[in-house]
Amino acid sequence: MYSPFIIAGNWKMSGGRGQWATLAREITQQAQGLRVELAIFPPFIALPEVEAVLTGSATIALGAQDVAFKDVVASTGEISASMLKGYGCQYVLVGHSERRRDQHENNIMVAEKIRQCHLHRMTPIVCLGETQAERAAGKAIEVIDLQFLDAIETLNISEPADLVLAYEPVWAIGSGQTPTLDQLAEVFRFLRASLVAKYDEMGYDIRILYGGSVSPDNATAYLDIQDLGGYLVGGAALKASSFVAIAQAVQSYRKL
Ligand code: PGA
Repeated sequence: MYSPFIIAGNWKMSGGRGQWATLAREITQQAQGLRVELAIFPPFIALPEVEAVLTGSATIALGAQDVAFKDVVASTGEISASMLKGYGCQYVLVGHSERRRDQHENNIMVAEKIRQCHLHRMTPIVCLGETQAERAAGKAIEVIDLQFLDAIETLNISEPADLVLAYEPVWAIGSGQTPTLDQLAEVFRFLRASLVAKYDEMGYDIRILYGGSVSPDNATAYLDIQDLGGYLVGGAALKASSFVAIAQAVQSYRKL
C-alpha cells in the first residue's frame, strides 16, 4: 500500500508581498474538493502571509524551501527548523539542485538538514538528480546512489511519512525537457530498491516524487509507474489554475 499522492509546489524566489497570499488563496479556492494532497513552498518571508491563508485548510500543507543545517544562533541569514515549525511548516525541501549548484550545498549538509527537520517534526523532501553531463556519461544511477547514500545512510526513521525523496534530473528543471518513461522507471526502480534495502517493509511506503518541467500537459505521462508518489512542481505551481489542473489530472487518472 503506497501513501497518497502529493503534489508539491515550489515557488522558488518568485512573487512579492501580498502576491503570495493571493496565490495561496486562489489555490485554496480552486483545490476545494480535491483528494490529492497539495503542499506549497513559498519563500521564507512569505510564510506568515501564506500560513494565515492556509490556516484551517485540511488539504494544503505548508513547506519551506530550505532550512539551516545547524541550530546555532550565530548563523547570519539562516532560518532554523524551529522557526519554520513556528510558522506551521510540515515539509522542508532539502538539497534542491539549485542550492547544490549555487550555494554549494553538499551531501553532508543535506544529511544535517534532514536531521534538523526530524528534530522539529517536519518531513524533509530530499532532492536528488543527475546533471545532463552525468547522464550522458552513463552515470545517472551512480550519482543518485551517492546522493542517496550520503543523505540516508545513517538516517533512522520510525514511519514512512518521515521521509520523502524527489528525483529531479537537473536537466529537466525549468527546461521543458523531461525523461522518457523508461529512464524514469529505471531511476524509480533503483530508488525503491535502495529504500527497501535500507528500511525493509517501510521502504515500500516512502514516497518518491518526480520533479522537472511537470505541467498539466504531461501530468499523466508517468502515472503508470506505480512507485511514483507525487510531483515536485516549479514553474507550473506559480499559477493556481495550472497547479490545480495537475492535481485534477492525477486524481482522475489514478482514480484517487
Ligand atoms: P520546474 O521546477 O517544474 O520549473 O522544472 C521543478 C523544481 O525545481 O523543483
